[in-house]
Amino acid sequence: MTITDVRAAPDSLQRRFIEVRRQTEALCRPLETEDYVVSTMADVSTTKWHLAHTSWFFETFVLAPFDSRYVTPNPKYAFLFNSYYVQAGERHCRAQRGLVTRPTVAEVFDYRAHVDEALVALIDGIGGDESHPALPVIELGLHHEQQHQELLLTDIKHVFWMNPLRPAYAPRPAVSSEPTPQGWRSVDAGIHRIGYDGHGFAFDNESPAHRVFVDEFQLADRLVTNGEYLAFIEDRGYHRPELWLSNGWAKVRAESWEAPLYWERTADGWTEFSLAGVHPVNPAEPVCHVSHYEADAFARWAAARLPTEAEWEIAAAGEPVDGNFVDARLFHPAPAPAGDGLRQLYGDVWQWTASAYLAYPGFSPAPGAIGEYNGKWMSDQWTLRGASCATPRSHARLTYRNFFPSDARWQFMGIRLARHP
Ligand SMILES: [Fe+2]
Repeated sequence: MTITDVRAAPDSLQRRFIEVRRQTEALCRPLETEDYVVSTMADVSTTKWHLAHTSWFFETFVLAPFDSRYVTPNPKYAFLFNSYYVQAGERHCRAQRGLVTRPTVAEVFDYRAHVDEALVALIDGIGGDESHPALPVIELGLHHEQQHQELLLTDIKHVFWMNPLRPAYAPRPAVSSEPTPQGWRSVDAGIHRIGYDGHGFAFDNESPAHRVFVDEFQLADRLVTNGEYLAFIEDRGYHRPELWLSNGWAKVRAESWEAPLYWERTADGWTEFSLAGVHPVNPAEPVCHVSHYEADAFARWAAARLPTEAEWEIAAAGEPVDGNFVDARLFHPAPAPAGDGLRQLYGDVWQWTASAYLAYPGFSPAPGAIGEYNGKWMSDQWTLRGASCATPRSHARLTYRNFFPSDARWQFMGIRLARHP
């Protein structure tokens, strides 16, 4: 089988591998070569680096251990394209990824093709051996690549934002500016089971499933809108220390925050920069690009709080994994549809929770370098639930635990409120 012969193997791992790899490249299509090589802050990796790093992941964790004939096109790529896997060897400085002009973009695409060909041949060789040890690592590599598809978009958004021309990645679709009312979903107190139930793929940090007790609570049935967040701004939310945690207040003062990232106050009102360029803030769209500090302060102002991740998962259990994913190609959160049930659980924006990103009881990471994937980050970060408008639909699930530090804003991050009844 060749990498162009996708339809020959419907629903196979090989087909999914090729589709995911092609999807990464499809996301690059609106870009010009100059766009691939810029990093605008330490958190932002270049598009070229994402393309190469995801290939390095397959090379390092699948091809090196499971394909004795595999030869890398350049042994020095491991230094450039290892992200944070200390046990996998020395690596380049993250903050300087935007200073690397070689390999060229074309050479990185060649690198991808080289890895693709070897992977497809390896999967061919595995055949129907469902217990082959490479299979779970290939699966992990696909979900890793999907994570980087999202990062590729959030990073290029920051790159375009920093460009005074404010280029657009995609056209802006017509959306309603009429918000729908927000209600509350009540959940009774009780003992519930959360975490990975053993079906389908999950990252190690979603395990083990375990019981939690939650008191009765209410969860907002949609996300907080720009209009609601504007009311917080107009009520001098960014200038009232009683609303903020101490570290958050210090950050607000130090960075002179007055609004979410990508918002600007103009003579004609607030504008927002999206992957469709600059446009007026739409009051019906979910507020986006707010830090945990801002989400927490807003919730306090609104006489509510952020949900814990257990509350979020308990309330969302049984709901369809549906929403405004990257597959819809809006590349921006959309207004909540009308309706009674829990809306916008997935897609649109990742939802900050009040839960620190910690190990579930009994958690143990995989041995070796691959165990550095999630476990070593369980410090000084918060869990976010759901998925965003940059997440592939096939990457989202109920038990997914995303995580970022308190001051991170450049991902598609927003707010869903909770409260005690
Ligand atoms: Fe990565």
